[in-house]
Amino acid sequence: MTQKIILTGDRPTGQLHLGHYVGSLKNRVALQNTGEYQPYIMIADQQGLTDNAKNPEKIRQNILQVGLDYLAVGLDPKKSTLFIQSQIPALAELTMYYLNLVTVSRIERNPTVKAEIKQKKFERSIPAGFFIYPVSQAADITAFKADLVPVGDDQQPMIEQTREIVHAFNSTYQTDVLVAPEGLLPEKGLGRLPGLDGNAKMSKSLNNGIYLADDADVVKQKVMSMYTDPNHIKVSDPGQVEGNMVFTYLDVFAPSDPEVAKMKEQYAKGGLGDVKVKKYLIDVLDGILSPIRERREEYAKDPASVYAILKEGSEAANVVASQTLHEVREAIGLNYF
Ligand code: TRP
Repeated sequence: MTQKIILTGDRPTGQLHLGHYVGSLKNRVALQNTGEYQPYIMIADQQGLTDNAKNPEKIRQNILQVGLDYLAVGLDPKKSTLFIQSQIPALAELTMYYLNLVTVSRIERNPTVKAEIKQKKFERSIPAGFFIYPVSQAADITAFKADLVPVGDDQQPMIEQTREIVHAFNSTYQTDVLVAPEGLLPEKGLGRLPGLDGNAKMSKSLNNGIYLADDADVVKQKVMSMYTDPNHIKVSDPGQVEGNMVFTYLDVFAPSDPEVAKMKEQYAKGGLGDVKVKKYLIDVLDGILSPIRERREEYAKDPASVYAILKEGSEAANVVASQTLHEVREAIGLNYF
């Protein structure tokens, strides 16, 4: 049986949080453990630099943090190749060739890029490297001939764009070197975990997240300050379940728990206090986070071992990506000597 190839990754711009966990990490570990896939998991430091060029230290430091998060959630270097983007020179060269097959207006139409440009307030000063990151992402994916890219829903446009580049390349150079990937989205409803404050997205810049590295006290404190129903003042008041972040989280983290169904009913009728529901959520999250936290602390005692894993992974990834680059050069005809 040939294993299908998976490629995915994260920008090392901060520690990973529960949004990453439900949106992607959990799924990666499950896929890894089926034994049916060969996963490549990349720390996208070059992509991280596209809007942090003046702050490379931030990217540098978060390599270790993201590496720790990966190992903590159960990505296993024996089953998944964990590597660092900048250590694979073929990726930049592939990007160079793909850029000629994409128009500026096509990138401008990429909804994720559009949203980020707005969110980061670039106005007219968009770094060119940032603007073309979907093309570099196509290089990441195709260098490994990935069949599947498990990502959150905001990354779907990147996969679309990658598929277009693959088709353009293969037809322009009359080859079948590149493989068109499929996106693998999280189960319905798990695509995006809202922030603790009810904002649509859990994000570092909004400071509304629970991190995989947060200790039990911090998690408790964060849940206790979560946004609920502002009109649910007295315990006896009927409360609103819809839009209540504590219940939204319970739906995600304890989806078929009969106790949660009962609590919702009681909350809506009146007679159930927010603190009780929050305590329940704290327990649920603790059940998920404590094994992750323990593994993280264990690895954190020996950062050199984490770097060694990433080095070994990068060496293995380099062999694969170099081979694809070789084939790409041949297909274009850049084999002069
Ligand atoms: N864009 C992803 C993020 O924002 C990181 C990434 C870079 C990636 N290259 C990729 C994801 C290739 C999937 C496939 O975190």
